[in-house]
Amino acid sequence: MITAAAPSADVPLSVNQILAVGGALLAVAVYLLYKIGHYLAKVLEALATAAVVFIALWFAAKGLVLAAVWAVRHWRTTTTVTVVSAWCWWWGWLSLLLTLTAVAAVLWVWRIASLPSFDRWAGRHLRSWWQRWLVYAPRMPRWLRSCGLTVPDRTGATVIQVNPLRRTATAPRERPRRDQLPRILSVRSGPSWDEVKVRLVPGQTPEDFDTAARALAVARGVNRCQVRELAPNVVSIDYQRRNLLDATVTAPDLNAMAGLSGDAIDLDRVLSGATEYGTEWRQSIRGSHTLIGGATGAGKGSLMWAPLLSIAPAIRDGLVRVNGIDPKGMELAYGRDVFHRYAVTSRDALALLDDLVEQMETRKREHAGTTRLVPITRDTPLEIVEFDEIGALLRYVGDRKTREAITERIALLTTQGRALGYTVRGYVQEPTKDTVPVRELFPRRICLRVASKSHVGMVLGDQAYDRGAWANRIGESEPGVGYLFGEGVREPLRVRAAWVSDEAIKELERFLTNPAPDPARLPAPVLPFRPGTPVLPAGGAA
Ligand SMILES: Nc1ncnc2c1ncn2[C@@H]1O[C@H](COP(=O)(O)OP(=O)(O)OP(=O)(O)O)[C@@H](O)[C@H]1O
Ligand SMILES: [Mg+2]
Repeated sequence: MITAAAPSADVPLSVNQILAVGGALLAVAVYLLYKIGHYLAKVLEALATAAVVFIALWFAAKGLVLAAVWAVRHWRTTTTVTVVSAWCWWWGWLSLLLTLTAVAAVLWVWRIASLPSFDRWAGRHLRSWWQRWLVYAPRMPRWLRSCGLTVPDRTGATVIQVNPLRRTATAPRERPRRDQLPRILSVRSGPSWDEVKVRLVPGQTPEDFDTAARALAVARGVNRCQVRELAPNVVSIDYQRRNLLDATVTAPDLNAMAGLSGDAIDLDRVLSGATEYGTEWRQSIRGSHTLIGGATGAGKGSLMWAPLLSIAPAIRDGLVRVNGIDPKGMELAYGRDVFHRYAVTSRDALALLDDLVEQMETRKREHAGTTRLVPITRDTPLEIVEFDEIGALLRYVGDRKTREAITERIALLTTQGRALGYTVRGYVQEPTKDTVPVRELFPRRICLRVASKSHVGMVLGDQAYDRGAWANRIGESEPGVGYLFGEGVREPLRVRAAWVSDEAIKELERFLTNPAPDPARLPAPVLPFRPGTPVLPAGGAA
């Protein structure tokens, strides 16, 4: 019987079979790869779509937040843009233009009719707004950069990456970042000053801005720039746009004061001139001693006469007594009758001061334990010592013993006189320690035009120049202009004393020597004669 032989396992596959099997496997592999690729592409596509959506959402959210913050921070701009857009949308641009023209015309008329009220309610807001957006926002970053008031973004420690597959270590390449700039917080624009509030960046101090004040002024193209510290990290950079002290300030009118009683004069707010902000400069004439430094012709005279003119009724009524020491024998002599005591020579000056010190000691004894501040009355008047050219008598004129004695009396009056009703006001050309050894005993200082920067420091203290008291830059055409610093004045204040002419000094003398009858000081009224009473001859005895 013949059986069909089964193909033996040993029989090798033919080439065709191998090709067929290989082809089939390849087809399966290709199919699988195609499928995997297909699904991978779908996954990647989905991931990419999700990423795009996520990034878009992220940017949209970030943009919205930034826009909201900006809109809230600059709410005036936001409101204006919104109103303008809404107006154009509903009523068209022509009606908007007509309305704006009408508003501008009304504002213009208001400005002409009443500048102070216009400036108070509208002008300063409008000015602040356009100064911010047209001047400070675009230009301030450049000024700050030029004045070295930016902080470079310092990178931290460099991280070195060591890659075993490379032979060298590499430092990651850093993208250079922009310097950090202080940000403008607000701009306030007054009639003569702009106040730009900026927030400092970490690494800066307000003193950096103090030092750069002069450079900031030059960058802005103004004469004065002052830096005020508002918070540890916020300063106000104040620019003076207009000099309000270029014109002479008029002194108070004595005729208007004729009817005033001496008690009506507030000795704590004595009108003395004007401030650089266009306001009245008032100073306390009691409770403090003042040293006024200024080169020859700086206007020390008006610093002395202006307050005296303002308190004339109080001098007339005996509430204030003025004592003058005048080594030149010229300046105070012109108004000699204003002074209760008057000295020219060093000997006379010492006698005058001795008299005052003695009187002060008596006052001290009388009031010890009863009051902390001696009241100003006719029995205990305020004694003002006007000491012109104080340096001359403390340093140059007279013998050494007298000079030392004068220095000692001045030291006594300045250290003890405040509460007892004694005020010393000294005027000096050369404010060095040698010339005025007691200069530290004057709490209030005013520096008029001086020859050098070092003199500013000598009168006002070390910080003054850096904080904007540039008294060495006061022009010769500005007599009476000076800087006030210290004693509660945080930033140097530029003031101009009211100008007191020679005629006004003579008028003051007349005012004090021929006082208007004061009803409080008159003797008991004399009854008029009844009609028919025989009139006695003049000078006849009754
Ligand atoms: N506040 C002022 N406004 C305008 N002019 C002034 C003012 N003060 C002073 N002057 C003028 O400046 C000139 C000098 O003033 P003043 O004599 O007071 O200077 P001074 O500082 O006392 O000088 P010196 O040390 O030489 O006595 C005077 O001609 C005076 O008229
Ligand atoms: Mg003088």
